[in-house]
Amino acid sequence: MGICFSIEEDQMLQQHQRLQQQKQEQQPVQCEKSTSSAPLAPRDVKDLRESPVYSNVDIFTYEEMRLATKRFRPDLILGEGGFGIVYKGVIDENVRQGYKTTQVAIKELNREGFQGDREWLAEVNYLGQLRHPNLVKLIGYCCEDEHRLLVYEYMGSGSLERHLFRRVGSTLTWSRRMKIALDAAKGLAFLHGAERPVIYRDFKTSNILLDADFNAKLSDFGLAKDGPMGDQTHVSTRVMGTYGYAAPEYVMTGHLTSRSDVYGFGVVLLELLIGRRALDKSRPSREHNLVEWARPLLNHNKKLLRILDPRLEGQYSDKAAMKVAHLAYQCLSQNPKGRPLMNQVVEILENFQSQEENLEEAILQSGGSGLTLYEVPKDTTRTQSQRGEREPEGQTSNPGKGRSKSEPPNDCDLYSPSPDLLCNDNSTSSGS
Ligand SMILES: Nc1ncnc2c1ncn2[C@@H]1O[C@H](COP(=O)(O)OP(=O)(O)OP(=O)(O)O)[C@@H](O)[C@H]1O
Ligand SMILES: [Mg+2]
Repeated sequence: MGICFSIEEDQMLQQHQRLQQQKQEQQPVQCEKSTSSAPLAPRDVKDLRESPVYSNVDIFTYEEMRLATKRFRPDLILGEGGFGIVYKGVIDENVRQGYKTTQVAIKELNREGFQGDREWLAEVNYLGQLRHPNLVKLIGYCCEDEHRLLVYEYMGSGSLERHLFRRVGSTLTWSRRMKIALDAAKGLAFLHGAERPVIYRDFKTSNILLDADFNAKLSDFGLAKDGPMGDQTHVSTRVMGTYGYAAPEYVMTGHLTSRSDVYGFGVVLLELLIGRRALDKSRPSREHNLVEWARPLLNHNKKLLRILDPRLEGQYSDKAAMKVAHLAYQCLSQNPKGRPLMNQVVEILENFQSQEENLEEAILQSGGSGLTLYEVPKDTTRTQSQRGEREPEGQTSNPGKGRSKSEPPNDCDLYSPSPDLLCNDNSTSSGS
């Protein structure tokens, strides 16, 4: 996360947004269902409170946040990112009279953080307006004195990162991985297909959250950006995102399009297939960068089968693995136009899924055992957070630094000590 504008740009943007806002206020209030109309950034908290666009987001007091988290009890901490600490909480009668008991995740902005208010507003802006089954729901927020908090639906199984890269314990099955890829693809396709398209910009395994049934949803909209409109071909921005996931042309030119997200999707699909992180310095140097190492092997069937995640052995048909690998190969094309659109990705993955289901059914009916399908035992799928543990060392983002994994150090474009990439975003939209 980490959004920053120059003062003049900010004023121009505010003026534009005010006009847009006035127009928007004449529109009927959006409903709860999948809505994909244009997110318009609120200028400040007053704007946010007054705008009918955010009327389905609850506003909480700080005292209510304290009650919901049992005074921010340390054993309720789910994790910590660049924005701040995330707590598990419950909003019920004791917190607010008449409130239906709801499990939530409460993210408290670290005030020493970078561009905090802007990130916080960006998150409320996008998640407060966009509703889709594959986007984490923003239930509400708190903005009182210097306190800034966000209240999300609670995602019982934590992040994809935790499950995919855990060193011990059960692993994600092939069918679960494919379902997660499909869910996440649907989330991105929804954003790209909105009336005013949105580019997510921070697609990575730690931002894909899983509910208790392992349905996947995208979280963290701090870097999201309105996509190009009309005859614009791209949006110009300073480069932000995460090392290993950002599209090469975006890193080189700062030109952002929805195809940059498709590249990020390709990286995650590759991580799901190979079971390795996008960047892993603990491997031999030629294997540090997953895409550089693995992409050339994806279209060589024998080589591909040798590099697939060994923990998946026996759970997929070679043909299915090759098809998914080919899709990843296309998403990771150096040429953005060579990448599929996200709605095409959804279609392809849906087809795979139904073919696989038919195959499983045929095998079950014939009593055969050509495919071994594992299900993770229920109790071993509990997240560390549910067990009251923190992430293992090396997997947490830097606590206490007040900086997002996706955030830049103060004056540079590329940030390497953490596996991430980033910078200030003094972006304005431009055509080409
Ligand atoms: N809605 C949620 N439900 C359950 N757990 C959540 C929820 N939101 C965040 N978390 C957990 O809280 C932790 C911190 O999340 P956060 O998004 O702040 O940081 P991050 O994704 O690790 O890093 P970054 O700052 O780059 O986004 C993660 O482990 C995540 O799984
Ligand atoms: Mg995150």
